[in-house]
Parts: sequence; structure tokens; C-alpha cells
Amino acid sequence: MMNLGLVSIGFLCILNSSTLGDISGSANQSNNLRYKGQRRSVPKFPLINVDGVKSNNGVVCLPDNYPFQDYDPMELKSVKTYSLKQYDESVPQGPSLIPEVDTVRILKKLSLQEKVGQMVHVHIGKFLGCDGLLNVTLAESIFEKYKIGGVYGSPVDMGGRWNIASPQRWANLTNTLQKIAMEKGSKLPFIYSLESPKGAGNIKGSILFPAPVNIGATFNLMHAYIPSQIVAKDIRAAGAHMIHSPSANLNVNRLWKHNYESFGEDPYLAGEMVYTTVRGLQGNYKVDRNRVAACVKHYIGYSGSKNGDDKEPRNIPYHKITEYHLYPFLRGFNAGATTAMLSPNTLNGEAVSSSRYLKNDILRNFLRFSGVVVSDWSEIKSMVKFGTAISPNWGIYQSFEDGVIDVSMSSDGFDFIDGIFDMLNRNAFSKDKIYTSVGRILQLKNDLGLFDNPYSNLGLIETVGSNQDIEKSQIAARESIILLKNENRVLPFHKNDKVVFIGPIFNSTRYMCGGWSVHRKEKSDLEGDSPYYGYGDTLEQAIEKIIGRKPTIFTGFDIDGNLVDDYTELGRHVHRADKVVIGFGEKSAGEANMLDLTESQISLVEYLAKLTSTPIVFLLMQNTPRIIDGIIKYADGILNVNLPGAYGGLPIAEAIYGSFSPSGRMPYTYPKSNLQTDLTYYTPVTSEYDPTFAFGTGFGYNEMVYSSIRVSNDVLFPGIPIKVTVSVTNNGNGPQLEPVLLYASQHVRNRMTPERYRLKDFKKKLINPKETVEYVFHLKAEQFQFRASDSQLYIEGGKITLTINAFTKNVVTKDVLLKIDLDFTDNQQITTGRDNKQSPQGRISNKRPTPHY
Ligand SMILES: *[C@@H]1O[C@H](CO)[C@@H](O)[C@H](O)[C@H]1NC(C)=O
Ligand SMILES: *[C@@H]1O[C@H](CO)[C@@H](O)[C@H](O)[C@H]1NC(C)=O
Ligand SMILES: *[C@@H]1O[C@H](CO)[C@@H](O)[C@H](O)[C@H]1NC(C)=O
Ligand SMILES: *[C@@H]1O[C@H](CO)[C@@H](O)[C@H](O)[C@H]1NC(C)=O
Repeated sequence: MMNLGLVSIGFLCILNSSTLGDISGSANQSNNLRYKGQRRSVPKFPLINVDGVKSNNGVVCLPDNYPFQDYDPMELKSVKTYSLKQYDESVPQGPSLIPEVDTVRILKKLSLQEKVGQMVHVHIGKFLGCDGLLNVTLAESIFEKYKIGGVYGSPVDMGGRWNIASPQRWANLTNTLQKIAMEKGSKLPFIYSLESPKGAGNIKGSILFPAPVNIGATFNLMHAYIPSQIVAKDIRAAGAHMIHSPSANLNVNRLWKHNYESFGEDPYLAGEMVYTTVRGLQGNYKVDRNRVAACVKHYIGYSGSKNGDDKEPRNIPYHKITEYHLYPFLRGFNAGATTAMLSPNTLNGEAVSSSRYLKNDILRNFLRFSGVVVSDWSEIKSMVKFGTAISPNWGIYQSFEDGVIDVSMSSDGFDFIDGIFDMLNRNAFSKDKIYTSVGRILQLKNDLGLFDNPYSNLGLIETVGSNQDIEKSQIAARESIILLKNENRVLPFHKNDKVVFIGPIFNSTRYMCGGWSVHRKEKSDLEGDSPYYGYGDTLEQAIEKIIGRKPTIFTGFDIDGNLVDDYTELGRHVHRADKVVIGFGEKSAGEANMLDLTESQISLVEYLAKLTSTPIVFLLMQNTPRIIDGIIKYADGILNVNLPGAYGGLPIAEAIYGSFSPSGRMPYTYPKSNLQTDLTYYTPVTSEYDPTFAFGTGFGYNEMVYSSIRVSNDVLFPGIPIKVTVSVTNNGNGPQLEPVLLYASQHVRNRMTPERYRLKDFKKKLINPKETVEYVFHLKAEQFQFRASDSQLYIEGGKITLTINAFTKNVVTKDVLLKIDLDFTDNQQITTGRDNKQSPQGRISNKRPTPHY
């Protein structure tokens, strides 16, 4: 607590505080920085000492393909609790349409070379020497020559010396580099961005949160907001200012290996989660210096890979793009997202980066996104790969025409700069496009306060890894655990039950985290769990904490599903046990081809089930749902924990032993076979929907009783919302967090066959034993607008069935009538169903999407 003063620094204090480090004599920053009106004081250059390898004298180059970077010897100094200064966040802040006067003033002072440099984000690896440390000579010459405006990535991705750098080392690195940029480069600070889909994993000790798929499963927006706020301050502690998150892609094919980055299959659920994540990351970012720029990605269609492979072309009908896939992006932009990233794929035959329709007509004009658009890693070059451009320079031309893409994020950004000049010399595009993009980029830097102080906020360093943040990760993990089957109340276990745990997931943290955790891609399994040392409890440790003795664990099969223990030996132990838990997992890189379990896994389950009468519980810890249809009959209990993160051990153990009642719900459809990999619940009514577990399913240990649905009016008119109320009673013995999901379905829709259901709203509340709680939803006629196959927006009147908790035993329904006097046409504005104030005023710009212009 004694550190509160340091942490709650408002921006005025930043400028005055002597706690932020010594003044460096060498930098003459009053020369370099240009400030907004009254903010003219010069920030002190913060110094933070780091131990370890110090200089390049007597350089020891790292071997090629250096497999094990050293662990950073810098210890964390995490405080137990902290508090940050709160700013008014009631209204979402977002990018302005045109740059402000003082931004324009800065823009005008830049040379063309300096402007072009602003449009490039270069990987930090480009500034490292052969020893894996910052090479000051090299960095100076790069900034001098190319006037780079942005840096991204973690050193460990590209030959860095340290496996995961401590916040201190990050601060030392980014501040040193920032000083170089301001002395040798364009004299403007660079923006630093990091990939942090579930915590600032690139920073040692920074809290790893449950994966977005788990956040979706909580059906509680708080768990999108709080982790994002924590990530933001950890990123700021490291001296970075932007993160490449959230993902607004829908989980529409279970084969896709990035599904854990997505909030689920439903556009509304994902949309609200994206909205809240952006709010959590950015807050009032124009004054709050503990917040960062969010980057909504990957626009658009990234998740729609047919076979799960990243390189596959995406083919998604445009009405599905407009009806489902765009919605989470729209919500991210409603929340004020400052940046967006283009998807590195083709969609319906066009490369997204070069498609004028997708970039200009849809992203800029229809969605009205006015922030900074960045390319994915080295994607500008991919126009050649996609065969849309004859050379990389023409790829640059295609990407940048219309001034739609503002930033090339690239590990070879220098080619891009040379290419831009080549294209300018050929008069391929006008300098105005560059002014527009650089205006957006500088405005973002201005809004983030970089012109006042671009350095790491050293006061935040001791908040990294705080207990307070660990608790937040655990609460989110608890609420994300989904109970899918519980025959004869096999769960929860009693502490003195004799339980045998089988599987490779019980003594590992990395399998709880999955890909993109502490490293960009999880490296070879050689590294094992070592990068996670010091993070949360493994399941084994957590179970021991709860039952007070060492649990009986057998590996059984390895993470690839190969048998490693003897059947008969396992059978003997299971036979003598009260319960057996079989834990299925997957490698943290999570590459899926098909959804099958291995023969050994299946036959082990069959063997144990036939040999013994010991109740079996499946524990599913995975990004890719493995087909369990053939063996589900042997399972008395099933818990799906997805990827609960580094602190997931204790929450899972607590769920198993009944410290709380699970409250997660499926954020995606769990397929029954490999023929259902792309099944979503919002199918047309005619199609079959019989997965192993439907979207939205899951229950708790307590018996819940639902009242019938009450409506304030059973006719729904445009402009007059109705109240939909349901009461829920907890007949169990413990408190229950109960999510209530409101769906609606139209019986008849002339222009487009109605979907079986569409989720319209959800709420999660705590209900104590014997207590009855009311859930009230406000439903609007406008929520029934839909896009027909011409991508236009329509609404049609008629009977609507409201359904609470579709696909569960607690389903209740009620019919209402939607009455539309005027047929909505494309003159109607798009509404989002939640806050119309934030809706874009745009309309789709052409009747039927056509690639011709
Ligand atoms: C710093 O820059 C200011 C303004 O150009 C100048 O007056 C001053 O002499 C410089 N100081 C040093 C130490 O170079
Ligand atoms: C980085 O750490 C080194 C070694 O302790 C120190 O000499 C240097 O001044 C630090 N630099 C910054 C910018 O903190
Ligand atoms: C640092 O960069 C300079 C200039 O490119 C190069 O000569 C030197 O070898 C580099 N040092 C290391 C340690 O890689
Ligand atoms: C988990 O246990 C297995 C089997 O004993 C062992 O091979 C593996 O190294 C352990 N993993 C960790 C992270 O300790």
C-alpha cells in the first residue's frame, strides 16, 4: 500500500514526480518535443538499472537458432495491492475524424522521409545485436536513416538475449530506444505495440488471463473489462503503448487453431466482449496514461478457414459477412478502438489488403472506422504471394491506394519505405494519401500522450504481477468453467474421495495457457514448463492444496495422445478408486487437423469403463474440441475448462471439489463429428443442429427453477422497446452465478430464411440459496433487422418466439408479435441494439457487392 502514491499518477504528476528517475544530461529534449498548448514541461528521462549482461564489449554472440534464451535475473517487485487513478470513462473515447490543430502543426514540420517513417512499425529484433541485446549503434543508424515511427514485438521472437524480459528490463530497453528515436530519428517518439491476447505475456510476471474463449464462456462482461485494464497498465510499465487485441473474429470453424483468441461463435456475444475489451484497454486514453491503444483484428473473415489452416483462402457469402462477421468489428469501433488490423487472407477471391471494396467501401465508409489501420506482420509483401501484384512495390501501391492502410507492420520495414518512394517517384499515388495516414498516426500518438512523455511509467513496474491482479485472473477462470454433464451428481467430489487422475495436463501450466502466452508461438516442448515458473499452481498443486495430501496422478497418455502407462496397471488403480478423472489436453501450439482423439485415448476410456464401475469424469482442456461422441456414454461428469490460463489450476480444482458451483456456458458449438466442424447454432431453421453440446449450454451444481416469461407488451413496435422478465429461483444449497441467455426467432421471414435462434441479450447474476432473482431485458424491434443475400438491411413483421436458455432443461418461451408499419429499406440506419448513439451512420455503399469499380 505504501506505493499508492507512485501508482496513482495523473499526468501532471508524471511531469513533476522526481520518483520517475534521474534526469539524463545527454538528451536535449526541449529541442525535440513539440507540445500541446499548456503542456510544455519536459518529461524527465527515466532510468532503471538492470543486472545481467551489460555491454557489447567483448561481445559474446548467441549461437544461431539459440534455443534457450537466458532467464532474466531481474526479480519482480510486485506489490500486493495498488490502486490507479480513475478517470471518467462514461463516454467511449475514439479517434477523431481529422487531426487536431497541434497534430497538424507537427505533421507540417515533418519531411517526406519523416512522414513515411511514421507509417512503419519495425520488429524490435531489427535493433538487436548478435548478442541479443540492444545494439545502440545499429539502432541509431536505423532511426537516422529511416525515421521509424513504430516498433513492435518481443525481443525473444527474433534473437533476443532474455527468455521473457522483466518489466524493468523492458523499461530500460524501450526508454533507451525512445531516446535514440528522439535524438537521431524524426525527433518524435515511436509507438510500441505488443501482442497480448490474454495478458501481457511478453513481460515476465505479468498476469496471464484465461483465453478469450474462456472470457466468452463467462457470459460476464466484467471479465472482458478488468483483465484488459490490467494488461494496459502492464504494457505501459514496459514502455509500450498499444496492443494487438482484441480479436473480433468469430469461432465459425472448430478446426481453426486461433479459436481461443476469439470470444465464441455468436456475433452478439463476441460483439459485446470486443466492445468491453476495447473499453477496458483504452478507457479514457486521451488523459489516462495507464491505458493503451487497442487494435481490433483481423479484419475480415480470418476465422473462416475451411480446413483450419491459416493459409487457406476464405470463402464466406457477403450476407454472412455483413450479418455476422462485421458485427463484433462494429462494436469494437463503437467502443472507440483506435486501431484495426487487416486480416492476412483472401476473402471471396480478393486479398483483403488490396481489396478496395473491403478496405474502403466497408471498413472506412460503411463501418466508418477513422482510426489507424495496420497490416498484419509483413503482409504488405503478400500481394505478390497472392498474385495480385507483380512486385512488392506494386503490392505497396495496392495496399495504400485510397489511403486506407496507414501502417505497415513488418520485420523488413525498410523495403516498404524504399518501395513507397519508388511508387511516389512513379506518381503511382499522391502524397496526400501519406498526409492522411500520418495525420491519423500522429493524432493517436498525441492522444496517448506520447508527445508529453513517451517513456515507461516506472511507477507501474511494481504493480506487475500483483496479487490483486492474480485474483482477477482466478475469478475470471472460475466463471469460465463449464459443467456439461453430471450424472448421479458425480461432481463435486468430497475431499476424502479416493480419486485417480489420468492425463498429461495435471502437472503443467503451459497446457492451461495454450498458444500466444509467454511467447509468440509456443516453442518446442523442449522448453517444457520452465517459462511459466513462478506463475500459478498446476492442477496437481492446486488439488493438493484443497485435499491436503498428494493426489494420485498417472500420465496415462502423453499430450499427443500416445499411451505411456500400462492399461492393466491403470485399471487396477481405477478399480480401487471412488472416482477417476481423465484429463484431455493438447500441445500449447494447438495445431488441429481433425478433431479426433487418438485410438489409445478412446480404448483407454473403454477399457476403464468396462473393467470397473468407478464413475468417470472427463476434464477437457483444449482449444480444439475433440470428438467424444463415441465415449460420452462412459462419462458420468464432463467439465470443459478450455484454456483457463496460468492461474487456472486452483479454480479447476475448486470446481471439482465444490468450493463453488460452475457458471460457464458454451461460447461455441461442440461438434459431434468431423462433419460438424463449422456448425453454429444460428443455422437456418431447416438444417439439423444436433451437436454434442449446443451453444449456451452448461449448468451448475444447484437446481435452478425458472418462471415463465413476462413481457410488458406482447406487440413490439419500432421505437418502443418492451421489457422481457424472467424470475429465477435457486433451489440448491449454495450460491449460484446464473447466466440467463435471451434468444429470439422469427417464424417467417420472406427475404431470408429465419435462423433457428439468435442471441439477443444475456445477463449473469448471483442467486443465493432459496432466493429468487429477476432478470429484465429490454428488447427492441430494431434488433430484428437482418441482412438479406443482397447485403441490404431489412426488417419484417410477424410472430417471434422469445426463448430463454435455448437447448437447456431450463428453457422457457413466449411468443410476441413484431409489428412493422413501414417496411424498412436501405434508407434505415444500422442500429446495434444497445447504444444507438454509437452506431455508424453509414449504409452499405452498393446494392450487391461487386469486385468491379
Ligand atoms: C537545448 O536546446 C535549446 C533550444 O534549442 C538550446 O537553447 C539549449 O542550448 C540546448 N541545450 C543543450 C544542453 O544542448
Ligand atoms: C539500463 O540499465 C543499465 C545497466 O544498469 C544502465 O547503465 C542504464 O543507464 C539503464 N538505462 C536506462 C534508460 O534505464
Ligand atoms: C552493432 O551494429 C553495428 C553496426 O551495424 C555492427 O557493426 C556491430 O557488429 C553490431 N554489434 C553486435 C554486437 O552485433
Ligand atoms: C509431468 O509429469 C510427467 C510424467 O511424470 C513428466 O514427464 C513431465 O516432465 C512433468 N511435467 C512437468 C512440467 O513437471
